[in-house]
Amino acid sequence: MKITVFNGSPAGKESATSVIATAFLSGAAEAGAQTNHIFLCEKNVQHCKGCFTCWFKNPGICVMQDAMQDLMHAYNTSDVVCFATPVYTWNYTAYLKNFVDRLAPLKSLVIAQQNAHFDLIDTKPKTQKFMVIANCGFPGTHNFDVMQASFACCNPFLEIYRNCGKLLKSKQPDIKQQVDTWLAAVRRAGFETVKDGDVSEAVRKALEMPLMEVQDYVQYLGMGQSAQY
Ligand SMILES: Cc1cc2nc3c(=O)[nH]c(=O)nc-3n(C[C@H](O)[C@H](O)[C@H](O)COP(=O)(O)O)c2cc1C
Repeated sequence: MKITVFNGSPAGKESATSVIATAFLSGAAEAGAQTNHIFLCEKNVQHCKGCFTCWFKNPGICVMQDAMQDLMHAYNTSDVVCFATPVYTWNYTAYLKNFVDRLAPLKSLVIAQQNAHFDLIDTKPKTQKFMVIANCGFPGTHNFDVMQASFACCNPFLEIYRNCGKLLKSKQPDIKQQVDTWLAAVRRAGFETVKDGDVSEAVRKALEMPLMEVQDYVQYLGMGQSAQY
């Protein structure tokens, strides 16, 4: 099984997103997967020009020659594609959005309707399974709502959403211990994805573990807290 993480954090290898994705991939590798962690901020991927050449004039072929050809190959040949990102202004980052936009050449000119949603279907049916890894700076449970709605179109089998992301790289022993316990569940999720093709309810539950109480976290950040916006 080949698993590729497309990491959209501008902080690349130093990112909190990378801490989570690396744990997931290490569990997957332990179970025998071939793993690939791609940092989009290191790649030359230009913005989609919106010329529609890849749909109407030269189907499937983008007019731009950049890193996207290799990235598209990694995307197409993976069994599991993981979109990994921090929350930036409620959603996924511009690096990841740019990458997803540049997947446009994979679309056909056939519109499909599912319930009230319309989209173009792919020229070749997708063979990959999709998953999401994300972290955010705030505490609370609604930071990922917009992102979750955005990713719903790829029907992810697993979504790992970590709030209080500033704790992920903490060196404070008590915090590190809590983070390591959570990362062990992430590793286990990677292992089960490869071994069982899915993640057990027990591990999914463990992934929801809180890292810190809201007030303690606000204090940890050295920020104030107001009752309203
Ligand atoms: C421009 C910008 C926008 C952000 N927007 C949000 C946000 O809407 N909600 C949130 O909880 N955190 C937000 N954050 C905080 C990041 O999600 C947080 O710092 C995260 O841990 C960074 O992860 P990374 O190290 O993987 O890049 C934002 C950070 C930046 C720089």
